[in-house]
Amino acid sequence: MSKIDAVALPDHLVDDQLCGKIAVVIDVLRATTTIVEALGNGARCVVPVGSVDGARMMAHDREGALLCGERGGVKPDGFSLGNSPLDYSPCVVGGLDCVLTTTNGTRALHLATDGDEVLVGAITNANALCDWIRRDGRDAVLVCSGTDGGVSFEDCLGAGLIVDRLGYQASDSAAMMFHAMEGAVERFGDLRYAIESSFHAKRLIELGFEDDVTFACEVGVSSLVPVFDSAIGEIQAD
Ligand code: MLT
Repeated sequence: MSKIDAVALPDHLVDDQLCGKIAVVIDVLRATTTIVEALGNGARCVVPVGSVDGARMMAHDREGALLCGERGGVKPDGFSLGNSPLDYSPCVVGGLDCVLTTTNGTRALHLATDGDEVLVGAITNANALCDWIRRDGRDAVLVCSGTDGGVSFEDCLGAGLIVDRLGYQASDSAAMMFHAMEGAVERFGDLRYAIESSFHAKRLIELGFEDDVTFACEVGVSSLVPVFDSAIGEIQAD
């Protein structure tokens, strides 16, 4: 039986942990949810970039590209879009390249490129993602992005959901995320309420992004599996 492993932060990855495996990068609030939505609504690609200045340069070099992202949850000066998945509608992103920089999610994507494949995972595409991984058959590692260098409850819950749906043999850390998710759903009554209790969800709600939090908790509403090709620096729909 294939195996599923997980790390609570990309910095927890050890030497060859991703070698020969599928890496799944998860940033439920909100980077990976936004990437799934952007590509699902017709963006040609998403280009993840680590820094705000790097993103400005990249968008400048790509004709017609949208400059997108956040710092501290809000859109930096001069950016076309922030990091709200709901802003990436078909009429805004259709046919365009989205150059995206976020505090943790785009960094995690670049730290996971030792994987044989690098997939973008969210609660919104959990079912399609699990189907993709099962069809492929290789072992997988869930890489949670975290928040400002610390572990994020919502990413671990999203990872736990994927461990549950995948049904693979789980490492201790993957099993821990599954049990955290199961326990949290029991304790809070619903995955969404559990996620709303997280530090980052509360911060986003204070900033006025409550709808983003609600949307990020919609299980399996997207059938899209984004794949990051680090050789060309682009994430595209599979
Ligand atoms: C991140 O990458 O840190 C996040 O996606 C932050 C956010 O916009 O909520």
